[in-house]
Amino acid sequence: MLEFDLMPRVVISSALPVDLGSRLGSVEVVAPAPGEGAMSRAALLAAARDADGLICLLSDRIDEELLAAAPKLKVVANYAVGVDNIDLAAATRRGVVVTHTPDVLTFATADLTFALLLAAARRVPEGDALVRAGDWQGWSPGLLLGADVWGRTLGIVGLGRIGRAVAQRAQGFSMKVLYAAPRRARPALEAAVGAHHVPLDRLLAEADFVSLHCPLTDDTRGLVGRAQLARMKPTAFLVNTARGALIDEAALADALDAGALAGAALDVFMAEPRVEPRLARHPRVVLAPHIGSATLSARTRMAELCAAAVRAVLDGRRPDHVVNPEARP
Ligand code: DGY
Repeated sequence: MLEFDLMPRVVISSALPVDLGSRLGSVEVVAPAPGEGAMSRAALLAAARDADGLICLLSDRIDEELLAAAPKLKVVANYAVGVDNIDLAAATRRGVVVTHTPDVLTFATADLTFALLLAAARRVPEGDALVRAGDWQGWSPGLLLGADVWGRTLGIVGLGRIGRAVAQRAQGFSMKVLYAAPRRARPALEAAVGAHHVPLDRLLAEADFVSLHCPLTDDTRGLVGRAQLARMKPTAFLVNTARGALIDEAALADALDAGALAGAALDVFMAEPRVEPRLARHPRVVLAPHIGSATLSARTRMAELCAAAVRAVLDGRRPDHVVNPEARP
């Protein structure tokens, strides 16, 4: 009993696709049973009270209230690469190390970006719905005419890991790739992925496909609003596999309704799982339920990184992929 009491407690806010038991070592794990879904906010607040480590989802808000409720907490391992759900300043003040899961989901997310881009351009969901409904009358010269992808211009907003992987995929479609980012990448890197740096306004005006790959921060929230959508060509498509709040969804719905944009492909939304009803209804919007990293191997590697980070901190070591290096446990 005494030994049990001394064991560090690790809270995992949701069942994960892989059992982390052996990777976490001697810890007491508190987690929902498989199939139970993620912990509610109230359950997470209660579980965090005695937690030494926490593995959480991007849908868990790790804020001052939660950190204050978890006085023993030493490490938060976010099961995602984006950390916009975490108050990093508050965690740092409290000496809580925060880690995330870069690299292992890069290609999965870039693949999904291209899947959505192609689906929107070639109207795949509309075709799927037509066939399933039994309404397909046979081959027809004008049926579901879409937009070419090959040879067109792709505008990538944010040339981080995922943006670069998307640029590499675009080469296979002989696309011209523009990118906008606060800092220009090294020429060797630009050459490797075949991307040209331009101001955001120019990218919006010239791209046939605009794909968002920047983190959600105070600077990028609402990055694509009415003014930016108005710059885009009426034949252009907007793709978002980053974070929903980068886009003003009401403005996007207005632009689509007005025919000021050809379509959109969205994996992420402002208030998930709620989807702006006008976007959900729109035939030229392709929707996905935030599955950018949803391959078994990516999600398994993400879980392993989280477990390794928690174990490292509990052992007094510095984990990989720390996002607040100033935190002193
Ligand atoms: C992330 O890791 O931030 C992704 O959005 C998860 O799919």
